[in-house]
Amino acid sequence: MRFYVNIDHVATVRQARRTDEPDPVRAAVLAELGGAHGITVHLREDRRHIQDRDVRLLAETCRTALNLELATSDEIVALACEVRPTQATLVPERREEITTEGGLAVTDPAACAALVDALSALREAGVRTSLFIDPDPAALEASARLGVDAVELHTGEYANARTAEERRTQLERLGSAARQARAFGLAVHAGHGLTYENVQPVAAIPELEELNIGHSVVSRALFTGMERAVREMGRLIREARAGLEVR
Ligand code: PXP
Repeated sequence: MRFYVNIDHVATVRQARRTDEPDPVRAAVLAELGGAHGITVHLREDRRHIQDRDVRLLAETCRTALNLELATSDEIVALACEVRPTQATLVPERREEITTEGGLAVTDPAACAALVDALSALREAGVRTSLFIDPDPAALEASARLGVDAVELHTGEYANARTAEERRTQLERLGSAARQARAFGLAVHAGHGLTYENVQPVAAIPELEELNIGHSVVSRALFTGMERAVREMGRLIREARAGLEVR
C-alpha cells in the first residue's frame, strides 16, 4: 500500500505570515526521507495554503510521486496539464469550507459535465486521474462511467464516527465501496481525517492501494520536532549572551 503525505498545512503556517517559511518543498523532502511513497498538495482556487510556485517546484523536485488535488477550475486544470503531476485528484471546493467536506457530486449531471472536460484535459496531458467521492454505490457507478483510473474514498464519516458501532458501520461501508470499485476495474485510494489512532482498520482493507494523510501527520511533526526546534533557538540565544559576557 502506498502512503502519500499531504503537506498543505505546512503551507498554511507559511501563509499565516506570507513569508517563505516553513517551505512545503523542504517538508516534502523530509516526508520522502521518512518513507512517504508520494506527496499530496491541494492547489485551491483561493490559494489559502499551497501556491502555484509550490506545485511547480514540487513537480520538479519530488523523487517519489506528486498527487495534485484540484477542483474543476479551468485555470488550475491548465496548470496541472502544464506541470504534469503523477496524479491529479479532482475534489469539490467551496470557498467557505475549512477543509474538503464531502465527495464530488458525481451523480449530478451539471457537476459531471465540468468533470468530463477536466478529466479529458488531464488525460490528454498524460496525468493519472482520480476522483474524491463518498463511499456510495451510485458515486462509484458514476465514477466508473467517467473512465477515471482511480477513486479516493472519503473517510471523513468513518473518522468522525462517535460510537464504536457507527465506526464499524462506516468501516463496512468503506470496505464494500472498495470491493465495488475493484469490480469496476478502478484503483482504490482513501483519505481524510485519518489519524494515528484510527488509521489501522482502514489500512487493513485489502482492496485499498493508497492512503492520503495530512493533518494528523503535520500535527505530529510539530510535536516530535518542537523539542529540538526550541533547544536550537535556546542555544543561539545563550551563545549570543555568552558572547556579551566575553566582550
Ligand atoms: N484526501 C483529500 C481528497 C483531501 O482533500 C484531504 C484534505 O486536504 C485529505 C485526503 C487529507 O485529509 P487530512 O488532512 O484530514 O489527513
